[in-house]
Amino acid sequence: MFVALERLINLDEGYKRAFDVAGRQLLLIVDQGQHLLFENRCPHQGAPLHDGTLAGGLLRCRRHGIEFDVHSGRPRQAHCGSLIRWPVAYDGDRLGLDV
Ligand code: FES
Repeated sequence: MFVALERLINLDEGYKRAFDVAGRQLLLIVDQGQHLLFENRCPHQGAPLHDGTLAGGLLRCRRHGIEFDVHSGRPRQAHCGSLIRWPVAYDGDRLGLDV
């Protein structure tokens, strides 16, 4: 089943927004024209990532400052897991995910 999250026309560079999909916290961002969907949970100690900063392809968690490469999901200069990425789906003029 397709669950729509956002209209494509709204997905400008630097877009970053959190969603709750059936109790799962997700984070949709746009970087270098790519639509990237992650669990909205820092792999380090679980802080939400939607209030982090996104610049230069790096998402910086506010809690302890670890930066994650949004294209590989990997942390920089830290020992913790990678971002958990979800595949996006498209239906007409909307982006979402298949659940
Ligand atoms: S919880 Fe995100 S850097 Fe520690």
